[in-house]
Amino acid sequence: YDRQDQRLPKQRLLVVANRLPVSAVRQGKDSWQLEISVGGLVSALLGLKEFDARWIGWAGVNVPDETGQEALTKALAEKKCIPVFLDEDTVHQYYNGYCNNIIWPLFHYLGLPQEDRLSTTRSFQSQFDAYKKANQMFANVVHENYEEGDVVWCHDYHLMFLPRCLKEKNSNIKVGWFLHTPFPSSEIHRMLPSRRDLLESVLAADLVGFHTYDYARHFVSACTRILGLEGTPEGVENQGKLTRVAAFPIGIDSDRFIRALELPQVQDHIKELKERFAGRKVMLGVDRLDMIKGIPQKILAFEEFLEENPEWRDKVVLLQIAVPTRTDVPEYQKLSSQVHEIVGRINGRFGTLTAVPIHHLDRSLDFHALCALYAVTVLWLSKCSSIMASTVLQEHANACIMTGPQEDAQTVIFRWVWEGKANFRLISILTLLVFYPDVALITSLRDGMNLVSYEFVACQALKKGVLILSEFAGAAQSLGAGALLVNPWNIAEVAASISQALNMPADEREKMHQHNFMHVTTHTSQEWAATFVSELNDTIIEAQLRTRQVPLLPV
Ligand code: G6P
Repeated sequence: YDRQDQRLPKQRLLVVANRLPVSAVRQGKDSWQLEISVGGLVSALLGLKEFDARWIGWAGVNVPDETGQEALTKALAEKKCIPVFLDEDTVHQYYNGYCNNIIWPLFHYLGLPQEDRLSTTRSFQSQFDAYKKANQMFANVVHENYEEGDVVWCHDYHLMFLPRCLKEKNSNIKVGWFLHTPFPSSEIHRMLPSRRDLLESVLAADLVGFHTYDYARHFVSACTRILGLEGTPEGVENQGKLTRVAAFPIGIDSDRFIRALELPQVQDHIKELKERFAGRKVMLGVDRLDMIKGIPQKILAFEEFLEENPEWRDKVVLLQIAVPTRTDVPEYQKLSSQVHEIVGRINGRFGTLTAVPIHHLDRSLDFHALCALYAVTVLWLSKCSSIMASTVLQEHANACIMTGPQEDAQTVIFRWVWEGKANFRLISILTLLVFYPDVALITSLRDGMNLVSYEFVACQALKKGVLILSEFAGAAQSLGAGALLVNPWNIAEVAASISQALNMPADEREKMHQHNFMHVTTHTSQEWAATFVSELNDTIIEAQLRTRQVPLLPV
């Protein structure tokens, strides 16, 4: 039975994630503008051409009125997207609260927020109740759209309760759940007051997937230690039901990057940029402005490098793109001020009248001040964005994602970047391609995978730039042999790695690049998704055979 055979109908796949691949901006009573959402999951799943996929998720906007909901549902249907409408209070308690203030930091080993530890468990409990309520709302939308035989693929820490909600109503639904963050050691997970509930709910799925073997192992040992369930090499057994647990490392659509690099116009722009940057090496960081990304630690390491290596002071620039995210959560607001303060101090210390060592792009800085400070960078970005934008927008258009009114591509990108609305992946694509850096500096304190490192590698066929990568990013397990691995908490070690990267001989760079390039181009997002879904189908057939629901083939 070969699904690739064009004569067979494609299998229907319901992808359920907190965010839809598009977010909606209201234009009038009945009219909506759709924009591409932030996040690596979107770009990974856009390549799911083998399946007849529909996406169910939150549209990222509060729509209290029925007319608005109807109009938006209709607009999204054209993109094969189905919205879940969450009211403001639910979003606040579920998304800002339980997801991003509790699970996210805990799963990245940053502990539980102080106020929840100190206050009564009431606020914690009400956020957990909102989390369950939101997950039930997602489940209701799945049930409304479900057809027999569909595969339902639930994504990420926002929806750990969903497998249980789905199976409670219909035990025949094929359910997979995939976590895009790390799953922490059981000693960390057990801190959660709702630790049992979450584990039991995830175990309702047929297949549970993680980016790395370690995350899968942590999950199984949490089930053993917290729930007392037996872990087997296949997964976890609970009252005769086996939940398969395995690692499925995600990848990127590497061809998309490689193809764009081959365009003669892109080559011309790169040449131009090289001339402009002549005599200076470019180091690049592209992250969401999130505490897990270790941006302050990275900048401090760069400062230490400049301090220890005065000969490099006007010969290297760090371009840090920090895309604002989850700005309603206080921890994120604090981080933003902290980063600005450090960047300002270092630029004051090592900058000259004509150059600063750190270019930090963040929308919360005043636009005119930024223009003055980053004039040269802005000029390059705007000049180069035209061709890049049209390539990337074309890709997105191919994937049936609208970018809103047809504006000149350069204007769109320029506006998105400076208004901070740009799609994170789009910015990283542009930056990686346009600036063509010598070194990428990825110093996450913890990271489920980190696809920026993959994108960087895909764009380095000629330059063979060096990847400095945190050992706490999932990507370290696949790209470790072709990168300089660092402990991001050890500022001196990161500073020394910057020096090593900038001085690395060409043959060594080539060797490291080859290793990573091979991996990135052979472990793609399409393959990741196809493997997960096929494993889910197999898991269900095996389970049916075990319980003899499927007739054995005639001999
Ligand atoms: C991480 C999560 C995704 C999430 C993305 C952006 O990559 O694993 O599920 O979509 O961050 O975060 P946001 O809160 O803006 O959706």
